[in-house]
Amino acid sequence: MSYNYKDLGLENTKAMFAKANKNGYAVPAFNFNNMEQIQAIVEACAEMGSPVILQCSKGAMEYMGITYVAMMAKAAVDYVKMMGSDIPIALHLDHGPSFEVAKLCIDNGFSSVMIDGSSLPFEENIEEAKKVVEYAHKFDITVEAELGVLAGIEDDVKAEDHIYTNPDQVEEFVAKTGVDSLAIAIGTSHGAHKFKPGDDPKLRLDILKECEVRVPGFPIVLHGSSAVPAKYVQMIKEFGGTIKDAIGIPDSELRKATKSSVAKINVDTDGRLAFTAGVRKAMHENPGQFDLRKYLGPAKEEMKSYYKTKIVNVFGSEGSYTKSK
Ligand code: G3H
Ligand code: 13P
Ligand code: ZN
Repeated sequence: MSYNYKDLGLENTKAMFAKANKNGYAVPAFNFNNMEQIQAIVEACAEMGSPVILQCSKGAMEYMGITYVAMMAKAAVDYVKMMGSDIPIALHLDHGPSFEVAKLCIDNGFSSVMIDGSSLPFEENIEEAKKVVEYAHKFDITVEAELGVLAGIEDDVKAEDHIYTNPDQVEEFVAKTGVDSLAIAIGTSHGAHKFKPGDDPKLRLDILKECEVRVPGFPIVLHGSSAVPAKYVQMIKEFGGTIKDAIGIPDSELRKATKSSVAKINVDTDGRLAFTAGVRKAMHENPGQFDLRKYLGPAKEEMKSYYKTKIVNVFGSEGSYTKSK
């Protein structure tokens, strides 16, 4: 069985990025790993009238199974229509590690893919991205690549320190590869342990500005943009979990970036924290409960409410399409 994203009612990221850049907001790219999470994301975005990128890593795809991924994305499209909303939905491969994985997703209902050659030498990164673009564009599927390396852990890629994107390489990379968007490294990082409490995290908005000058109007992507809310770190600890005190990227720094060519911002860790906090709280409050709906349900609602807040505080994408009834 193979699927084409257009038959599933999904969209690629072209029109959504153009509209976002024109109107000074960014499209939320929220990672999902199960049904409750996709429901939380889609309900939050439909109720806010925000476009959405359903983002799935290779690990998440293997966990759910690619057929479930495609069919849950179709269910999301049908749900949104049924609720009277017209938000566009993309299904995107996050951190595609190779041409083969990107092809698998292209052939199975994804509308957009990332090829992550950021740890490769510049010329090899170009070659890898070019190969994916050539295949993806045959099917009108959009491609994201990355220049520069984020601190933290990117699937198998571990970078101790940031290698900020070199703006001098951006124009050549975009021209030679034909990619549709580019992730850059300006001080964000993956995971829950980005900064220590007391730090004052700042993004290198000067590098972002330099990149914009080289490719005016071209959609830029920010990875590693979770805020690591203190509320969830606290809840996880209060209800029996262990997690190091940490802080993430302040909403205010990201909000500044959405006013530029930043068209997509990735958030995964915050959803995980909200869900974990929600499950722990529900289980703590009713330790005898073994009906899984009774703890997954509240955890889903916790995530949904977080996504809605993030849409308003960071993305600014609310009300750009019809809200669900
Ligand atoms: O940036 C990476 C994403 O957070 C995906 O993480 O590979 O554990 O699903 P994962
Ligand atoms: P966070 O770990 O900050 O949520 O970043 C997610 C991400 O960049 C997915 O590609
Ligand atoms: Zn990422």
